[in-house]
Amino acid sequence: METLANPSFVDLILRWGHVVFGIIWLGHLYFFNLVNVPFQGGLDKELKPKVNPALLLRAFWWFRWGAMYTFLFGLTLFLYDYIHLHQLTDATTGQMTGRSMWILWAMLLGGIMWFNVWFVIWPRQKLILGGMAAGTPHPDAAKLAATAGKASRFNTYVSGPMLFGMLGAQHLGAMSAPALIVTIILGVGFWFGMIKRSFKVKTTV
Ligand code: HEM
Repeated sequence: METLANPSFVDLILRWGHVVFGIIWLGHLYFFNLVNVPFQGGLDKELKPKVNPALLLRAFWWFRWGAMYTFLFGLTLFLYDYIHLHQLTDATTGQMTGRSMWILWAMLLGGIMWFNVWFVIWPRQKLILGGMAAGTPHPDAAKLAATAGKASRFNTYVSGPMLFGMLGAQHLGAMSAPALIVTIILGVGFWFGMIKRSFKVKTTV
C-alpha cells in the first residue's frame, strides 16, 4: 500500500517539480537581496531606466512564476500525500504526527512568502518598473520600493526557518518548542549574516 514511507512515482514527480520551482523562486529572491540591493546602491541614477526594466522585469517573471508553481506543486503534494493517503494523523493514536506538524508550519511560512510575492512585492514593482520603462516614473516610486523591499527582506529571513520545516518534515522527527526555536534562530541568523556579507563582497578580481 502506498504511504509516505512507501511513496509512488507520482510522489517523486510532484517533489521534483516542487523543489525545481522552489530553487527558481528562492534563487531569484536571493539574487534580489544579495546582489541587486548592493548593486542598485552604486548604480548611477541616469542608468537605472536603461538597466532596470530590461534586467529586473525578466528576473521578476521567473521569481513570481517560480513562486506560483512551487506553491501549486507543494499544495498538490500536501493534498496527495497527507489528505488522499490519510497521513496527517497517526493511524493508531489518531494524533497529528511530528511530520505533519513540521510541514504545516513550513507551509504556513511558505504561504505567507507566496502571498508577499504576488500581493505585496510584484504589484509595487509592476508600477515602479512599468513607469520607468514608459519614461513616466511613478510619483510614489520611493514609497512603493520601500514597502516591496521590506517584504522581500522579510521573505529572505523567513526562508531560513521555512526550509528547516520543509526538510524537517522528513528529517526532524517530533516537533518541540526547543526544536522550533533553534531552527528559527539558525534560519534567520544565517540570512542575517548573508545580508551583512552581501554589502562587503568585492567587485574587483
Ligand atoms: C509555497 C508554499 C509551499 C508549500 C505549500 C510546500 C509544501 C510542501 C509539502 C507538502 C512537502 C512534502 C513534505 C513531506 O514530505 O512530508 C514539501 C517538501 C519540500 N519542500 Fe515545500 N512547500 C512550499 C514552499 C517551498 C519552497 C519555497 C521550497 C524551496 C526550495 C521548498 C522546498 C521543499 C523541499 C526541499 C521539500 C522536501 C522534499 C523531499 O524531501 O522529498 N518548499 N513542501
